[in-house]
Amino acid sequence: MEVIIESTQEAASLLAAKMIAALVHSKPTAVLGLATGSTPLGLYRELARMHRDEGLDFRQVTSFNLDEYVGLGPSHPASYHHFMRENFFQHINLPAQNTHIPDGLSTDIPQTCEEYESSIRQAGGIDLQILGIGSDGHIGFNEPSSSLASRTRIKTLTPRTRADNAPFFGPGEEVPQHVITMGIGTILETRQVLLLGFGEKKADALAAAIEGPISPLVPASALHFHPRAHAILDEAAASKLQRNEYYRHVFTNKPLWQRL
Ligand code: PGA
Repeated sequence: MEVIIESTQEAASLLAAKMIAALVHSKPTAVLGLATGSTPLGLYRELARMHRDEGLDFRQVTSFNLDEYVGLGPSHPASYHHFMRENFFQHINLPAQNTHIPDGLSTDIPQTCEEYESSIRQAGGIDLQILGIGSDGHIGFNEPSSSLASRTRIKTLTPRTRADNAPFFGPGEEVPQHVITMGIGTILETRQVLLLGFGEKKADALAAAIEGPISPLVPASALHFHPRAHAILDEAAASKLQRNEYYRHVFTNKPLWQRL
């Protein structure tokens, strides 16, 4: 895994945006795997700016989101359908019919999950997957103990994740127990992964994922099986990595042909 440490969250988000823009320029029909939560907000803002000011064109792009809460419809303010519309889709020219997010209101969840996997296959697979990391080490909503070979399916959230996500819900409103999420096996089949992690709150999870053993108890550690995974962190999130200096050295000395 390549570990890139930027001085601030903003600088890290700009770098991730540049990597995605480079992909979309070289492959206008790129298939993007998208994430929600506070982590990718700066990245989406910068991509929207690139669209507005520099003509970055998403017309032929296809997107697949990682996950959605079971029981929340697209108009619920805490649903990921709503999040994506508000924070990204309404600011760019990605056609609505090219976007995919699991259906939280499905009445046949196993069927919905199978169809989600088959739509990804039909689109030719995901070229680049954006990931955040949970404070418990999850990616997507693959909570600790998830199978490292898992596919899109229903998962039960841990109390910690429900507490972490409570601020996105209204006062007195319950965070759903269940979600639909792409599996770890689904994520490992994408062609490139950008794992974003910002702030001290993520430092333990990132140290376990990047430098600890590969374990279903730290789902993000499965990314060591991915041949093209990049972790883009700010200083605070990288503060518990033991090989911090080496990662910086590698990045600074990257051969020119390996750069963007
Ligand atoms: P956050 O969540 O971006 O809101 O911190 C990340 C995650 O749970 O994957």
